Amino acid sequence: MSMLTRIFPEGFLWGAATSAYQIEGSWNEDGKGESVWDRFAHTMGRVARGETGDVACDHYHRMKGDVALMKELGLRAYRFSISWSRVLPEGTGAVNERGLDFYERLVDALGEAGIAANATLNHWDLPQALEERGGWPNRDCARWFADYSRVLFERLGDRVAMWATHNEPHVTALGYGGADFAPGRCDAAAEYRAIHSLNLGHGEAVHAFRAGGKRGPYAGKIGIVLDLHHYVPAGEGEQDRLACERAVDRAQGVFLGPILQGRYPERLMEWLGPLAPEIRAGDLELCFQPIDFLGMNHYFTFKIAYAHRGGLLRHSATQVSEPGLGETALGWGVNPIGIRAVLERVGPMARGMPIYISENGTAMRDESDASGYVEDRGRVNFIRRMLIELHKAIESGINLRGYFYWSLMDNFEWASGYEPRFGLVRVDFPTQRRTPKLSARWYSGVIEHNAVEE
Ligand code: BGC
Repeated sequence: MSMLTRIFPEGFLWGAATSAYQIEGSWNEDGKGESVWDRFAHTMGRVARGETGDVACDHYHRMKGDVALMKELGLRAYRFSISWSRVLPEGTGAVNERGLDFYERLVDALGEAGIAANATLNHWDLPQALEERGGWPNRDCARWFADYSRVLFERLGDRVAMWATHNEPHVTALGYGGADFAPGRCDAAAEYRAIHSLNLGHGEAVHAFRAGGKRGPYAGKIGIVLDLHHYVPAGEGEQDRLACERAVDRAQGVFLGPILQGRYPERLMEWLGPLAPEIRAGDLELCFQPIDFLGMNHYFTFKIAYAHRGGLLRHSATQVSEPGLGETALGWGVNPIGIRAVLERVGPMARGMPIYISENGTAMRDESDASGYVEDRGRVNFIRRMLIELHKAIESGINLRGYFYWSLMDNFEWASGYEPRFGLVRVDFPTQRRTPKLSARWYSGVIEHNAVEE
């Protein structure tokens, strides 16, 4: 078998990602306020086995060691998120200096290690105090978010290379429409109102970033991270095609449209009728701010069929896998060509703007040996196959600038709790010992050579 070496463009940014609630722990330490995820996980029946992020990877106390590990692995960039209620315990008003200081120490440690800081302002953990004032369905939340963002820009704007306003705002909104994510309200109209406030909040925050701070313009770039999965109609008929369009627009069009084109997907808004959000004069201009990059999280390919009893959107979704690749430990399909298909669809909308894969990874039921080592060949193969498709996308002209594996280390996988695991690094939760898996060593090699073997 011949080996083909696929070399990535110079400067391709190799990283790994985490988020605050999933790794930090210390949920009520040093003045941190409660978030919707604290409340959700502390509610009976919400998370598997009653697990919570109270301790998680104890990253709040182990940050220095974790950054040293990133350096050892050769990461060029690290994507993390900032816990809003750690910085502003009530969501608005007084700054909790000890919380802000934690992120300043993290950014400085990354700087010393030569690792680019990629900070996400909202990775789902809205302060509970703001949820009690209506949460994201309340359009005031956009302003609260911009005010919070300004606090971070002021303090860290000279050192953070990349900012993302939201992570997967679709999933934040699902927390209002459904029961699987915090706050779990199960209110369809609230989901669509949340979507509009999330877009407004994004716009206001980008606007604030561009306006600069007391000492002038900020050094980094700003964008947003969307979950961009691949969707295919189940059949060739008109009904499946339109059902598929509704599914894509509900998850992606409602963000890609306002943010990249200044409009909402019309057919979906008509379909929603009274559930569609109220859009006031000036709103769409505010959402449609020039951004510097688009972050794309990618995990799934779905086949969408029209289903008369398929809920509000009248559709049903099934996971697709490439034959022989099976599924992940979360039951998700594995379909490497899907990642390239999305890039080829979304690339033209982004009109040449840099795109980063801000998350991609696989959940496995890892088994470790006595020393804590995991020989996760399945994960290595998964990443390899994804990287090959990404390389092909670059060859076809997509302006893809980097890849962040999800996740740097095993962590709290939301409603699934601590199993299965996504990390490059094994975390033994009782002892908090970190052990790089085979995939971590392999990924270090990819970074070092800026290349993947086919
Ligand atoms: C999220 C992560 C999550 C990962 C795997 C993404 O939707 O941004 O927080 O752990 O997928 O489920």
